[in-house]
Amino acid sequence: MAQRSRLTASCRAHVLVLCFLAHVATGVELSVNNHNDDFTLTISSGSLASLSCLAQNSSQAEELLWYRGDGRVDLKDENKVNISNICISPVSESDNGVAFTCRLLRDQSVQVSVVLDVRFPPSAGEDESIYIEEGKDVTLTCNAKSNPQGQTTWYKNNTILTLHDHYQVYQNSETFQLSIRKVQKSDNGTYTCEVKSSCGDSSKDFHLIVEDKKPVFPTEAVIAAVVVVVLTGLFGIVAQKEKIFKCFKKPSQTAL
Ligand SMILES: *[C@@H]1O[C@H](CO)[C@@H](O)[C@H](O)[C@H]1NC(C)=O
Ligand SMILES: *[C@@H]1O[C@H](CO)[C@@H](O)[C@H](O)[C@H]1NC(C)=O
Ligand SMILES: *[C@@H]1O[C@H](CO)[C@@H](O)[C@H](O)[C@H]1NC(C)=O
Ligand SMILES: *[C@@H]1O[C@H](CO)[C@@H](O)[C@H](O)[C@H]1NC(C)=O
Repeated sequence: MAQRSRLTASCRAHVLVLCFLAHVATGVELSVNNHNDDFTLTISSGSLASLSCLAQNSSQAEELLWYRGDGRVDLKDENKVNISNICISPVSESDNGVAFTCRLLRDQSVQVSVVLDVRFPPSAGEDESIYIEEGKDVTLTCNAKSNPQGQTTWYKNNTILTLHDHYQVYQNSETFQLSIRKVQKSDNGTYTCEVKSSCGDSSKDFHLIVEDKKPVFPTEAVIAAVVVVVLTGLFGIVAQKEKIFKCFKKPSQTAL
């Protein structure tokens, strides 16, 4: 028993020594915008994000690196030592969820990451007119992206659409869709998708114009008829060739 607890104690001592060594190896701490640990920065799209990384408690000049995701950010020489600032301007939707990490060149395990939480309002898209033949299926699609995620609703002629088997609604974080199977004349009208988020609202109108069913056009029969007519014409020309030649010869003969 006594031996086992001594072993455990020495194991613990090793771990402590390792931790101590790792810390001593650099002795440096990084901070980004005064945070010593990873953090999330909530910011509106279109605005400017300024990130300042500082090497603290170092006895020597420390070179810093910045990464956007896995990619190195190019830094000017005068923006590398002890302190390094990067500016994201303007912050865009594509920066949402992206981690910006400041690392110590000498020991890249010393790092602080900032994950951007980019807030942006929805933009459902431009209004559309859709002409559809009665009996066909149609899908109306609008862009539903926003941060935070918005609430979506379909309207028909400005009243909330009552969903039943005739309609199918599909939604993910990017798009919001309404499918109408076998469109009928009564489906004609204006459909609106509305996306509401705490950052703003957006809507898109679809003018669905249901057209008469076109008479079924007998394409194959028409092609067959055209082929027959053309062939008949060709045979006719071949058969008449002699006659035509005779015809041309005749005048010269009569002239003689
Ligand atoms: C820097 O060192 C001072 C004194 O040695 C200590 O009080 C302080 O907490 C250290 N700061 C960091 C960020 O390690
Ligand atoms: C960086 O910090 C170290 C240690 O504090 C210092 O010796 C060095 O002069 C600084 N270099 C610059 C460019 O600020
Ligand atoms: C919706 O409005 C369109 C045009 O204003 C109209 O043709 C259609 O009958 C209306 N549909 C319903 C269900 O009210
Ligand atoms: C069909 O709907 C469109 C869009 O709302 C409307 O402009 C048009 O008048 C409607 N047509 C009929 C026949 O109801």
